[in-house]
Amino acid sequence: MNDHISTHEAEEDARNADILIWVDGTLKHRNEAVVSVYDSGFMLGDGVWEGLRLYNGRWTFQDEHIARLFEAAKAIDLDIAMTPDQVIAAIEETRAANGFTTDAHARLMVTRGVKRLPFQHPRLSTRGPTMVIIMEHSKPKIPRPVNLATVPHLRGLPMTQDPKLNSHSKLNCILACIAAEKAGADEALMLDVHGFVNTTNACNFFIVRKGTVWTSTGDYCMNGITRQKVIDLCHANDIPCLECNFSLVDTYGADEAFLTGTFGAQTPVGMVDGRVIGTGQLGPVTERLRALYKDLVGA
Ligand SMILES: Cc1ncc(COP(=O)(O)O)c(C=O)c1O
Repeated sequence: MNDHISTHEAEEDARNADILIWVDGTLKHRNEAVVSVYDSGFMLGDGVWEGLRLYNGRWTFQDEHIARLFEAAKAIDLDIAMTPDQVIAAIEETRAANGFTTDAHARLMVTRGVKRLPFQHPRLSTRGPTMVIIMEHSKPKIPRPVNLATVPHLRGLPMTQDPKLNSHSKLNCILACIAAEKAGADEALMLDVHGFVNTTNACNFFIVRKGTVWTSTGDYCMNGITRQKVIDLCHANDIPCLECNFSLVDTYGADEAFLTGTFGAQTPVGMVDGRVIGTGQLGPVTERLRALYKDLVGA
């Protein structure tokens, strides 16, 4: 099973051994960057996060990422205790301290902070929040189209754990990914509660049929920023694009399939449940969208 890949595979970069990590306002060498074992994020997955990419000196779609972070924090009643501008300044401080100019990835995490007692009640989180920014030199290196397998783990209804939340706890997605690996695939294709194809455990999912791009309605999946940019690019470039319910029949019979996410931009999918999608390689519509997206982000 050694040839499994992840959609978040990056080139090895020795410089990452000595990066500085922002922990609650202080920059620490990665070997010294730690949070408490009483931290709400460590103990319970009680927090929210964002992933951002730096292309040629610019944090791509920074405002959308910061807005989504604050929206998620509000949804879980977590006070970030900083303004959006202060969060942006912390990202910039980390970038400057590390000397990143391009091809960097940031994972910005905010948890409910350090707990007084090792139990669940949010009131027990008395010190915090805890905020950490990990920033690495990062060039995606995904050696081939990814293979997906459908799994029994569903995208849940919004009144349980809203799948739109970038919550620290990703256990549903992690279990989906494990199930997909055990089925011989790289990552999971997840269905919604009605059985329609929805998203993968870590990226949004698209198919292409007869020149038309299809993605889910947006219910039950992460409101991916890259997803929205791809939809907008389709509209701006006369590429027909549907946000609709579709099934595995539509998926297996598609000409192309691809994933979207901040890390990998657009990643081709070669196979779903052992069915080769189209040629199994990067298709022409995916390739065109990749080029349009590259232009958009100035990569
Ligand atoms: C489950 C899931 N789907 C999709 C995405 C992609 O979203 P974005 O394009 O905003 O990076 C993410 C990334 O956070 C995710 O966790």
